[in-house]
Formats: sequence, structure tokens, C-alpha cells
Amino acid sequence: VIRRVLGKTGIACSVLGLGTVKLGRNTGVKYPAGFEIPSDDEAARLIGRASELGIDVIDTAPAYGTSEERLGKLLKGERERWTIVTKCGELFEDGVSRFDFSASGVRGSVERSLRRLETDRVEVVLVHSDGEVEKQMGEELWEELARLKREGKVRAIGVSTKSVEGARACMARSDVLMMTLNAGYLDEREVIEEAGRRGVGVLIKKALASGHGKDPGASLKMVVGTSGVTSAIVGTISVGHLEGNCRAVEEKA
Ligand SMILES: NC(=O)c1ccc[n+]([C@@H]2O[C@H](COP(=O)([O-])OP(=O)(O)OC[C@H]3O[C@@H](n4cnc5c(N)ncnc54)[C@H](OP(=O)(O)O)[C@@H]3O)[C@@H](O)[C@H]2O)c1
Repeated sequence: VIRRVLGKTGIACSVLGLGTVKLGRNTGVKYPAGFEIPSDDEAARLIGRASELGIDVIDTAPAYGTSEERLGKLLKGERERWTIVTKCGELFEDGVSRFDFSASGVRGSVERSLRRLETDRVEVVLVHSDGEVEKQMGEELWEELARLKREGKVRAIGVSTKSVEGARACMARSDVLMMTLNAGYLDEREVIEEAGRRGVGVLIKKALASGHGKDPGASLKMVVGTSGVTSAIVGTISVGHLEGNCRAVEEKA
């Protein structure tokens, strides 16, 4: 898969990334069908194949159940080849999500993510927005993220947003933004292009409308062909789908 540089961070990453909600959580998620969380062998096969295909960005979050902890084991020995993106601000405990956007909450979350991922630093940490915090992120939170960066625990910071307004509000202070774009939802296209022009790295979530879209290949080609987009983070636990998605982005490139 072709690679692009993630905004001004200097981090090169594959244009197709792997989303890992389905590696760690199958309750309270909005996919079209229920699914079993893959076994360790299945997850290892998926990640091994992703590696072979040249995929080197992997997206996780504390909110994705056991995803971070599993990646800690699954990426062992391969850590250096991966760009790990995780989040902070949304926690998942005893089967329920809870938000904590305080500076101390965010620090605790990042430090816990590092322990779960069995690493001493992650490439990207994004605030896992609830749709509101992104519109007015407090100075204390930005400062805590900057401190984590100075300490070397995090290389790049930003926000996973839920609205055009939120993305605009966070853009000036973010190295990276995660936004939504797919064939059925184009509202964020302009703000994505703007982020690209301003040197902010752009990761796309829900490029296939979380599995609800009609033509996955066409949606993915549109997404990676959109100016400003660095990488489409597609969530899959199917090796066949992973390979198909790779072919689609190669055809586009
Ligand atoms: N707030 C946030 O920060 C946030 C929110 C949502 C998502 N994300 C991140 O973005 C990633 C992607 O978002 P998403 O998982 O919601 O949605 P998505 O990538 O648009 O779609 C994933 C769904 O599409 C299916 N799929 C994948 N490739 C396919 C193909 N070629 N043909 C048919 N179906 C296919 C998958 O099923 P199979 O497993 O069967 O392939 C899965 O159910 C997540 O995994 C997560 O890392 C972040």
C-alpha cells in the first residue's frame, strides 16, 4: 500500500489503516450485524496479513474494550513497524462508556494505555470526543496533552471529532484530526481539505459507514482520493475484506 506523511508530524503511514473496535468490543457498537470477537489466533492472522500488505497504522482506544491490551500482545516484537493511534477521554468499564476529559483523567488514561499496549510511547493520542468537548476544549486539557508530548509519551496529539464545528475549533492546536467521510456522508469534506492545507494529519473513521454503506470499494476510493486525507482507518476482522480494501486503495492510487 502507498504511504503518505501524517501532516507536519513527519510520521509516514499507509493510506489504509486498521481499526480495531471489533478486536475488543461487541456490545454497544453500531455495526449492521452481531459478531464474535476474534480469537488470539484469528487476530494474529489478521494483523500478520495487514503487515504483509504494508499496512502500518493501527487505531485503538480504551473505549474499545480489550483492544489495547490485545494489541500489546499481538504487536510484540513488531512494535517499531507500527504507528499506534489511541485515544483518551472515553473509558469503558464494566460494559459501559464513561467520559473524563479532566487533565488528570487524560494523563491517567494515556499512562494506562501505554501499560496495556506494553510500550513506552504511542505515535498519536486523540481526545475521544463525546461530540461536545471538541467545540470548546479547555486550556488545561491542551496543556496536559502538550506535556505528555514533551515527556515523549506521545508523539502527536489531536481530537477524534464528531462535527464540522468541532473539527474547526480544534484544528489550530491539533497535529492530527480523526474525522468522518464516506459515500453517504460528505459534510466534513471541506474541513478535511482545510486541515490538509494547514498541515494537520487527517485520519478517516467510518469510511464504509461502519458497514452500512452500499459499495465499500467505491466509498474507500473516494475517501483516499479526497484532498487532505492521510489515511482511511477501516475496521475489519475479515482477512478477505482487508485484502479487498487494499486492492481498492491501490487501484485508486
Ligand atoms: N469516535 C471515534 O474515535 C471513532 C468512532 C468510530 C470509529 N473509529 C475508528 O475508525 C475505525 C473504522 O470505523 P468503523 O469500524 O466504525 O467503520 P468502517 O471502517 O466504516 O466499517 C467497518 C465495518 O465494515 C465492514 N467491512 C470492512 N471492509 C469491508 C468490505 N470490503 N466489504 C464489506 N464490509 C466491509 C466490517 O465488517 P468485517 O469485520 O466483516 O469486515 C465492519 O463491520 C474503527 O475501527 C475505529 O478504529 C473511531
